[in-house]
Amino acid sequence: MIWPQVWRAWAVAASIATAVHSQQTGNNPDWPRWCGKVYEAGYPNFDPGGQTLPPVPVTGAPLLHVQFQPRYSLYLDSEKYGEFVVNAELSQFHGTSPWPATNSTTKWANRLIFSINLVFSDDPLVQATVLANSTGNVFRFELSRLGKPSLSPIKVSLYGAPENGTPVFQATTTMLYLPDKKSGSVTRIDNLKGGLWFKNSASNQTFEPFLPYGFYASHDGFLRNNNTAEIQAYADLGLNAMVPLTIYKDSPDMLAYMDKINLRFMYNLREGYKNLSYVRENVLSARDAESVFAYWSSDEPDGWQDPFTAPHAAHDLIKSLDPYHPVAITLNCQNYYFAEYSAAADFIMEDVYPIGINATWSKWGTECNITHGDCGCDNCEGTIQDVPDRLDTLATYEKWLGLWPKTKFHNPQSFHGQDYWLRDPTVGEEHAMNVLAFNHGARGVISWVWPTSGILGKAHGELATVVTKPPVRDFIVGGGNPERIEVPVQWTEVVDAAYWVHPEDQRRVLVGVVNGGYVGVTERVEVELVNATKIEKVVWGDVKWKLEAEKLVVEGTMPALATSFVIVNLRAGWAPT
Ligand SMILES: *[C@@H]1O[C@H](CO)[C@@H](O)[C@H](O)[C@H]1NC(C)=O
Ligand SMILES: *[C@@H]1O[C@H](CO)[C@@H](O)[C@H](O)[C@H]1NC(C)=O
Ligand SMILES: *[C@@H]1O[C@H](CO)[C@@H](O)[C@H](O)[C@H]1NC(C)=O
Ligand SMILES: *[C@@H]1O[C@H](CO)[C@@H](O)[C@H](O)[C@H]1NC(C)=O
Ligand SMILES: *[C@@H]1O[C@H](CO)[C@@H](O)[C@H](O)[C@H]1NC(C)=O
Ligand SMILES: *[C@@H]1O[C@H](CO)[C@@H](O)[C@H](O)[C@H]1NC(C)=O
Ligand SMILES: *[C@@H]1O[C@H](CO)[C@@H](O)[C@H](O)[C@H]1NC(C)=O
Ligand SMILES: *[C@@H]1O[C@H](CO)[C@@H](O)[C@H](O)[C@H]1NC(C)=O
Repeated sequence: MIWPQVWRAWAVAASIATAVHSQQTGNNPDWPRWCGKVYEAGYPNFDPGGQTLPPVPVTGAPLLHVQFQPRYSLYLDSEKYGEFVVNAELSQFHGTSPWPATNSTTKWANRLIFSINLVFSDDPLVQATVLANSTGNVFRFELSRLGKPSLSPIKVSLYGAPENGTPVFQATTTMLYLPDKKSGSVTRIDNLKGGLWFKNSASNQTFEPFLPYGFYASHDGFLRNNNTAEIQAYADLGLNAMVPLTIYKDSPDMLAYMDKINLRFMYNLREGYKNLSYVRENVLSARDAESVFAYWSSDEPDGWQDPFTAPHAAHDLIKSLDPYHPVAITLNCQNYYFAEYSAAADFIMEDVYPIGINATWSKWGTECNITHGDCGCDNCEGTIQDVPDRLDTLATYEKWLGLWPKTKFHNPQSFHGQDYWLRDPTVGEEHAMNVLAFNHGARGVISWVWPTSGILGKAHGELATVVTKPPVRDFIVGGGNPERIEVPVQWTEVVDAAYWVHPEDQRRVLVGVVNGGYVGVTERVEVELVNATKIEKVVWGDVKWKLEAEKLVVEGTMPALATSFVIVNLRAGWAPT
């Protein structure tokens, strides 16, 4: 996160000391860098390396890009059925063979006929077909077919072909089929919709949708106080999650209290994540906690240019000791070895802190641009739009790289200082950045850093109270990726709108709307929603809406930085595009 100058100086010293067999990534590893760029005066500008670039298209017929994943990142032996999600996209970029054109009119025409098997087994778990160029196809199978539950990942393969038998398409993945736990907690990721599902004793060991919303919380000035009333006050604001910046050895009573009140936490390993004895010791003390929902293995490994192998080694060890919880990594850089650093995470957090920065000139007395400098927010413009832009950028990299998209969290800025950030965000900016983050796919919010100003603590608590509970939670966690709603062109710079379909009732949609500008929009603001019949409820914000001819229309001015969540009923089931 925010590294005091002295730590950076220390990091520089360390990198010089180890220069001979430098473990750092990128170019000129002996120089002080952040996100691969030099930021102090006296060094020449150079290419930091590690950029993710658009792939080069193949010429000719598109390739079939076959990918599959288990629907959930883990299954338990108390469940009967599992599912696979199969994608078979036609792509000019990814895949091994072109999809053959056909004039066939049989029922197999233009379909991939496939089976999914355990590796070394001829007995298929799934035999089915999918249309070429379709995604999100779901297939159910009986979990007992996997054999005995175990703590190790199970390898599965997909083989498929068009009806004439060639070419053959293949994909592999792994899945977890674990013995159930009767106490403690389990978290799994929905690989189709992107949300987290959590169970523990408080949920009667039943998975429920979970939208974590809270803060990284300091040891000094907070957890070190060993005062349960302070934790309770935090939870009473409406925050349901925390990343305590401590470990069991230092704060056992605080972590035990979080278990007691079901305040879910991501366990912090960042201080020692490269020391596998440290990782082991800590995972063993955290893994059976009632409230642990994930591990935070590494904080900005990309910013620090950590060796690629370090987060991988930590991830693999954590999973071998505790396959029941996902591992998160915070990425700070806008374009520095995204594939390498994200690969060691089960979900990704971005910490874009754009408010009050000088985006072009730093405290180091040097310029910031795409190859040089550190202005506190990598390749940012210093506006609230940096937050949705980063989430979109990371998703674009995944598309370019042909990766299955990972769940993403936003880390809001709730601080100022370090000579990078002149001021705290205002409440309006904070809410706008967070609703923009949800509109652009965030499935959780962890803010830097608690304690914060009373006003920002309260502001986060108010939004958390709404989004972490039904009905909003169920849309954002279970409704899949938010779909963009096009807004009339004169407001595209500032007004942002997206919707989610309710996972069980396709006649209900949640619409998120933000005026990301610093002035009210006085012209008519309308958001088109085909088949809308009724405003069920405005669940967040002061914007007044009316429905006119299948358009959501703001009554009067949409104030500067206004945010709104509104549930709308549709005449018919939504026809997903
Ligand atoms: C499909 O039919 C058209 C018209 O007869 C023919 O030109 C084309 O080569 C056929 N394509 C394939 C893949 O057989
Ligand atoms: C595949 O589907 C995508 C998304 O629906 C569409 O944009 C694209 O044109 C399709 N590709 C082909 C070759 O049909
Ligand atoms: C808890 O779960 C068990 C087993 O699934 C069920 O029998 C019981 O009724 C549940 N209790 C509550 C309070 O939901
Ligand atoms: C923290 O508080 C608990 C209960 O109030 C007490 O038992 C424990 O010794 C305290 N721990 C420290 C490190 O002061
Ligand atoms: C690594 O972690 C272990 C266990 O916490 C600790 O005893 C050891 O001192 C650590 N090593 C280093 C080099 O920090
Ligand atoms: C950033 O700092 C430079 C150098 O002090 C200054 O010229 C520029 O106006 C500043 N930009 C902003 C947006 O404050
Ligand atoms: C970035 O800043 C460095 C250092 O001032 C400068 O040498 C370089 O030309 C700049 N690059 C661009 C693209 O402006
Ligand atoms: C609107 O409703 C009609 C049926 O009344 C349905 O056929 C159509 O797909 C719906 N459109 C959308 C975009 O949901």
